[in-house]
Amino acid sequence: MKSRSAMVYFTCNRLWYASRSSGGPPAATMGRVIAIANQKGGVGKTTTAINLAACLAVAGSQVLLIDADPQANTTSGLGLRGQHQRTLYHALAMSESLDRVEIASGLDGLSLIPSERNLAGAEIELVDIERREYRLREILENHRDRFDFVLIDCPPSLGLLTLNALTAADSVLVPIQCEYFALEGVSELWDTLIRIRRSLNPTLAVEGFLLTMFDERTNLSNQVMADLRDFLGSQVFETSIPRNVRLAEAPSHGQPIILYDPKCRGSESYVNLAKEVLANDKKSAREGN
Ligand SMILES: Nc1ncnc2c1ncn2[C@@H]1O[C@H](COP(=O)(O)OP(=O)(O)OP(=O)(O)O)[C@@H](O)[C@H]1O
Ligand SMILES: [Mg+2]
Repeated sequence: MKSRSAMVYFTCNRLWYASRSSGGPPAATMGRVIAIANQKGGVGKTTTAINLAACLAVAGSQVLLIDADPQANTTSGLGLRGQHQRTLYHALAMSESLDRVEIASGLDGLSLIPSERNLAGAEIELVDIERREYRLREILENHRDRFDFVLIDCPPSLGLLTLNALTAADSVLVPIQCEYFALEGVSELWDTLIRIRRSLNPTLAVEGFLLTMFDERTNLSNQVMADLRDFLGSQVFETSIPRNVRLAEAPSHGQPIILYDPKCRGSESYVNLAKEVLANDKKSAREGN
């Protein structure tokens, strides 16, 4: 574990420095596109996508949330399953304009590009298309400037949908569940991120690593947090997301946590995460990245 971790550390630092020095796309006027990705399943990608998007919207930002997962958990977690005629599939595979796919959520400032099972077909249908990894980037080009933030919830794989998300993104936010093998999974994702920077998206930056389902009472959680902070340094968000039953309940009520239970610890932690992301955005606008 230790030597593997050291390799991850080295690789991650290389990518980080590359991303800081090369200068990303302008963030000041166009929506900042953040892919929420980790090929590992059940680490809190969807929970983070819904709740970060909602907290940014409540803070006054215009936010577009894209459900890029055929499981459609973001769509159902906002209570919007079955409330739409078109999905991301229609935009990616049938060239439908995003204007006709986008729907309002119950929250001011937050819109959704929904998903459903048929999105899995897009992975297959896109295979023979030229520039298949650039589809999402291209269809977002004329759409993103209406928003301050575009968040993309990725599926738990490194397939074509995730590649499209990472190619379209300015930065990637990686939720990491506090568990023993956390760093092992990160190294595979880093290999992918490096390949994407080399070929598809040279300006892809790291928004940050987010510790999820953190339980401060366990040694394991504390050890994982210490290791990650040790290896990834300031790339780990200050905010960590606690294990909180209200966060697990909220999707079944079709609500983000900030509406379902604004005072619980889960809600508080996603508000803090939104503040960090807003601060990152201001910083990168100042630096012209
Ligand atoms: N901080 C938390 N506290 C308690 N439960 C959580 C927390 N974060 C996520 N969960 C629960 O853990 C499960 C997995 O979370 P989530 O769906 O967000 O992960 P995911 O990475 O999107 O999964 P997948 O890879 O399948 O898309 C869900 O049941 C969710 O409600
Ligand atoms: Mg998910």
